[in-house]
Amino acid sequence: MTPSFCLTSAAADRVEADLVVVPVFVDRDLGAGAAVIDAAIAGLADFMAEAGFDGKPGETLATPSFGQLGAGAALLVGVGPRDELDADAIRRAGATLARRATKVRTVATTLLDELADGTDRSVAAQALVEGVLLGGYEFLEYKSKAEPSRLASVAIGGRGTRLQAALERGATVGGAVIWARDMVNEPAAAKSPAAFAAAAKKLLRGRGVTVKVLGVAEMRTERLGGVLGVGQGSHQPPRFVKMTYAPRGARGSLALVGKGVIFDSGGLSLKTGKGMETMKTDMGGGAAVIAAMSTLAELDVKTKVTAYVPMVENMPSGTAIRPGDVLKIRNGKTVEVLNTDAEGRLILADALSLAAEAEPDAIVDAATLTGACVVALGDKFAGLMGNHDAWRDQVRDAAARAGEPVWPLPLPKQYRKQIDSEIADIKNIGGSYGGALTAGLFLQEFVGDRPWVHVDIAGPARADANDGELVRGGTGFGVRTLIEVASRFRKPPRR
Ligand code: BES
Ligand code: MN
Ligand code: ZN
Repeated sequence: MTPSFCLTSAAADRVEADLVVVPVFVDRDLGAGAAVIDAAIAGLADFMAEAGFDGKPGETLATPSFGQLGAGAALLVGVGPRDELDADAIRRAGATLARRATKVRTVATTLLDELADGTDRSVAAQALVEGVLLGGYEFLEYKSKAEPSRLASVAIGGRGTRLQAALERGATVGGAVIWARDMVNEPAAAKSPAAFAAAAKKLLRGRGVTVKVLGVAEMRTERLGGVLGVGQGSHQPPRFVKMTYAPRGARGSLALVGKGVIFDSGGLSLKTGKGMETMKTDMGGGAAVIAAMSTLAELDVKTKVTAYVPMVENMPSGTAIRPGDVLKIRNGKTVEVLNTDAEGRLILADALSLAAEAEPDAIVDAATLTGACVVALGDKFAGLMGNHDAWRDQVRDAAARAGEPVWPLPLPKQYRKQIDSEIADIKNIGGSYGGALTAGLFLQEFVGDRPWVHVDIAGPARADANDGELVRGGTGFGVRTLIEVASRFRKPPRR
């Protein structure tokens, strides 16, 4: 069950809940809440020492109330050094709380009482809600004996309308990330392009976004040769989803593009068995874009946002695109397809062309694009590339505020010749090295003169273990960054 959140002004020892959660700083330095608990239950200090609980991030220690508290039990959560209790640490603490509190219904917490200097309480409150929702996330759809968490409500110590609004913002953002995770975790068999498009439509209904779904015939009319080419090997025809959020008196315009490959077998350039295991994740960028769109009205975003998500299944078959075939992309450029496993860039080429045609102030795309990016940055960091430094920095800063790790990578002009083709305008693969960058250089061919940033999320779209707010499986990476980009959008300066 997804918990709800509210504020409380009750003291840690008096608040009524199944469990009261209080932070302890490193070296067993009791926070104010823990000190109140300690005063009520004698012997807390000795108990911590005996249990080997130091207050390091992620550590927890539960104690009964012995009838001395308003709550049934207390949970000490280690949060590390006092001067490091920022929004990111709070998000992780919220995740720890959610993982430990699955058997209780109601929790109260003082986690926001002693934030590090310079940490905004509202920002931290939003992060706390995100942490609880995301750390407690479970995908149980296919478990025949599921025991979902019972946590139903979390009361957070604090007061005021600003803080209340922050809780609501956290719930909105968290809910969007959960939707994206659910879509990624869903097996490919259950998310054909048609089903994925229908799920997007359903999510966006009543959320201030108009949705247009193109089928194959309309894609032919629109000359989306990349999407049609990649999609032709599957018996499940592709879709192309266009979304528009146009608030009254909009300030500036932003375009979002997301890769929606519902399964990437590699096509005729077939992947290995191992390489395919997680390829239902290949629509993570598209899911992130759709999820972000679903929050804009609720968050009262003032910028016009359009979004483009091509949805295809990349399969080998008698009708599949062959290595050596040439596709004509929406913007008129021809591409020699030398490796059918470099399919993401082919569908994004059409989507970016359409986005650029509408002349938005800026474009950002999110895509599980290259294994090379995972080699370069590991599985926690997304790679950022773009044609406009100030715009790239704006996206980088938004990601930092949202708590999603990203790192800039270059788009070197010297490497552009790697995608020169013998017979077409360009080819869809570069040389042996720098594969994330040649993929970025390929995409750059389709954005015209628009400020554009490409976010390669091949690594962080999934997690192989629980870590902070991340739960093993689809992460919904990118949702928080895209929402933050849209919320605080500033038109990039002329180059
Ligand atoms: N979807 C993959 C990229 C990927 C790899 C995402 C591993 C997550 C984990 C993409 O379509 C792909 O197959 N890229 C190829 C490109 C190559 C053929 C130039 C790759 O990275 O190997
Ligand atoms: Mn591929
Ligand atoms: Zn792919």
